Amino acid sequence: MIFIKALIDKLAKEKALTKEEWVQLLDNIDDTEYPFQKARQIRHEIYGKDVYIRGLIEISNYCKNDCLYCGIRKSNKLADRYRLSKDEILDCCHIGYDLGFRTFVMQGGEDPYYTDEVMCDIIKSIKDRYPECAVTLSLGEKSYESYKALKEAGADRYLLRHETANECHYSSLHPAELTLENRKKCLYDLKELGFQVGSGFMVGSPGQTNETLAEDMLFLKELNPQMVGIGPFIPHKDTPFAKKSAGSGEKTLIMIALTRLMLPQALLPSTTALGTLCEDGRERGILAGANVVMPNLSPKSVREKYLLYDNKICTGDEAAESKLNLEKKFKSIGYEIVVARGDYKKEI
Ligand code: 5AD
Repeated sequence: MIFIKALIDKLAKEKALTKEEWVQLLDNIDDTEYPFQKARQIRHEIYGKDVYIRGLIEISNYCKNDCLYCGIRKSNKLADRYRLSKDEILDCCHIGYDLGFRTFVMQGGEDPYYTDEVMCDIIKSIKDRYPECAVTLSLGEKSYESYKALKEAGADRYLLRHETANECHYSSLHPAELTLENRKKCLYDLKELGFQVGSGFMVGSPGQTNETLAEDMLFLKELNPQMVGIGPFIPHKDTPFAKKSAGSGEKTLIMIALTRLMLPQALLPSTTALGTLCEDGRERGILAGANVVMPNLSPKSVREKYLLYDNKICTGDEAAESKLNLEKKFKSIGYEIVVARGDYKKEI
């Protein structure tokens, strides 16, 4: 369809579309090869064929929140809860460093055990031992003061998906205590404090439409984050969304490609959820313009417990095994995992 091609060209050139144009594009896009090829081209110009790796350490599956989609929500009495000690986290970093990881991502539910004091101490110890590594946090919503303390302790980046930029949709996915307004405030606070910020959303979350997706793209444009995490929604059996359908892999790839066109410099992960949904999902993510993967560095004993959705891959793999597998897969499609912090490249 000629007008779709024109919209994609416009997006690549102007890095923006109106809401109406987004809806029109998302309603009618059928040929994916054109946007994928354009997204790859831009990615190659900025990041070459490098794939950045991030070592994901899932520090706790305790969570005080009750997000309807998430397997570690507090009402899930069947979740087998755990938290990692500082020593266990440092052991993960040690293993990761030896494997070539230069970014460590500490992710967890909103677990009050990890006070600012506890987290700052862990961050400082990691930075002390591995000064050339980046520390990324993914620990949910906090106050400006808490984010500031974490930044001052040495954290470099923070991941906090906005989940959906539509108020109504947001409140259908989250308990009443969580608001889109506060989520946005957190993201702007993080930016102001100088974090490299990651936002993003699930594709195919219950209630999502092309209109809400258009709002997601407009919000991302406004926020201009350094990282954008996009993965398919996958139901978890012990959540209220157990019977909902999973998001589409193809649609996820399209959203990754369009995000690359809109925010050319962005660090875009080819997510584990995408790899869970389709066998070659993570390679396809790279071929749609993604440039980051986040293999699991968590201790094997806890991997099966950090389940945000069903059938998550790599719960049994060793970190070394995961990295080697990915390396082989990416090599076969012409990409290379590199030993680097993999920072955001600013526009020059
Ligand atoms: N399916 C896919 N992604 C999920 N997340 C949480 N639950 C699910 C699910 N059921 C995503 C959210 C969150 C990130 C850490 O994981 O978008 O921000």
